[in-house]
Amino acid sequence: MTAPLVDLSIHHTPKGVSDRVAFGFTKLLRFCADTFFAKRYGHRAIVLETVAAVPGMVGATLNHLKCLRRMCDDNGWIKTLMDEAENERMHLMTFIEVAKPTAFERFVVVAVQWVFYLCFFGLYLVSAKTAHRVVGYFEEEAVISYTHYLAEIDEGRSPNVAAPELAKRYWGLADDATLRDVVEVVRADEAHHRDVNHGFANQLANLPQGAVAPCPPHIELQPTWKTAA
Ligand SMILES: [Fe+2]
Ligand SMILES: [Fe+2]
Repeated sequence: MTAPLVDLSIHHTPKGVSDRVAFGFTKLLRFCADTFFAKRYGHRAIVLETVAAVPGMVGATLNHLKCLRRMCDDNGWIKTLMDEAENERMHLMTFIEVAKPTAFERFVVVAVQWVFYLCFFGLYLVSAKTAHRVVGYFEEEAVISYTHYLAEIDEGRSPNVAAPELAKRYWGLADDATLRDVVEVVRADEAHHRDVNHGFANQLANLPQGAVAPCPPHIELQPTWKTAA
């Protein structure tokens, strides 16, 4: 499996106050991440993927509850958002095989999860449109960060180690796949999330949805428990 081509030029130009808030918030977080991690891309990926896996589950939960209350169809949003959350968690499980977080980074993950979950939940209740726009902008930044990571590997500053077994299984990569192949498919996932979330925000703002980057194929995760024979 080779990663689908990623259009690096996609950017949603902020329109109106809600978009500008989402964009400004994303740029502030980007500055914090750049300051904290600098070029430690493996560590950066681990910590940020623990955050990236939150919005999909929040959006899925709140849309699920809304559909129950209104007794209406979700037009496929809930499954899409749950798949996004699972996919981000698999990014985390992949990068944890590549780099090991420091004790301080683990503390940051725990502290940030509380704050980010509650803030994002609150934001989604107040404005689902802004919440999806925030994720769209986060994902634009993720595409940029993984492009930088690829350059680090290509220029020999990060070793191009063998791909973790889990990643080879999940994305159906070749036996001799490397970290570079993994970062490429992860970046393609992020481009897909970017377009899906900007599309959801556009739909809520009654704007045209735009094209969605293809999602690399993933295996269906199987439970490890067994039903009684
Ligand atoms: Fe991710
Ligand atoms: Fe993502």
